[in-house]
Amino acid sequence: MYNLSSYFDHVANKYDETRHIPERSFQKIIDFIIDITALDIHHSKILDIGVGTGRTALPLVEMGYEYTGVDISKNMLSQFLIKLGGHIPKNLTLLHQDLLDIHFLDKSFSHIFSYHVLYFIEEKSLLIEKIKRLLKDGGTYIHCDEILLNNFYIDDLTKQWYMLASQGNRKLEEMLAESDGTISDKEDVVYKLKSTLEQLHFKTEIIKGPKWIQKMSKSDLISYFENRRDIYTGHLTEAERERIFMEWKTIVDKKWGSTPEKFIRKQLYVLKFVKEGEHTC
Ligand SMILES: C[S@@+](CC[C@H](N)C(=O)[O-])C[C@H]1O[C@@H](n2cnc3c(N)ncnc32)[C@H](O)[C@@H]1O
Repeated sequence: MYNLSSYFDHVANKYDETRHIPERSFQKIIDFIIDITALDIHHSKILDIGVGTGRTALPLVEMGYEYTGVDISKNMLSQFLIKLGGHIPKNLTLLHQDLLDIHFLDKSFSHIFSYHVLYFIEEKSLLIEKIKRLLKDGGTYIHCDEILLNNFYIDDLTKQWYMLASQGNRKLEEMLAESDGTISDKEDVVYKLKSTLEQLHFKTEIIKGPKWIQKMSKSDLISYFENRRDIYTGHLTEAERERIFMEWKTIVDKKWGSTPEKFIRKQLYVLKFVKEGEHTC
């Protein structure tokens, strides 16, 4: 079976490059998160599940928020540690653990964040129970997602990759059948997630955040999928994986055209849940 921690261990040193957001837009995202969660530097206690390389955690830690980050990948956490100059500040706790195994007292956190993590978790109901239990009354959980907005060439090449990779992978074939063949970071992924959470009695609202533009070169796209190549192709041999990847690269070469870089538009989408009850510090 495909192992998520070794996958993230494998991509850790390139992860931030493939998620690069222009600095000004990134600041807007952080400001937006602070705003919609009403973070309070003196009283908020944040738990970040799947904190990764600390890409979104670092600015909040540097501002002085009390922060706990959990991640299943040792190498992702090592990248975070490098950014911290090898020194974990007093207001930060880092745990190398599966988020389903973490143990804290009930109502330990005023805020729980997950940024690009929820869809990796199969046992969503266990996670939801955990989030509800760990949040203080009146506390807030947010799941953040970066949505690719109508980028038809990227969509098309993404679809081509999934079509090639899906052969013999039932889960992926089902996903393709359900989604008319285009699995990409589009809005419907967030709406589907919202409805999954609501089936688990977790009432969320969707809040649309800042938009930004990112440059993507052909080699960025290729290396993005090269890093993720093994996610859906665990059922294939290495030789088969290599063959379909080469096949896909030929398609990309043909379709990309002569422009060295394309511009992609993205937007932050947030699923927000507020636990019932009076907020007490
Ligand atoms: C796409 S990355 C997002 C990292 C970070 N939140 C960000 O936005 O840059 C997903 C992260 O979730 C972590 N992760 C996935 N499943 C996990 C689990 N069951 N327990 C803890 N961490 C997990 C991965 O190791 C990885 O660092």
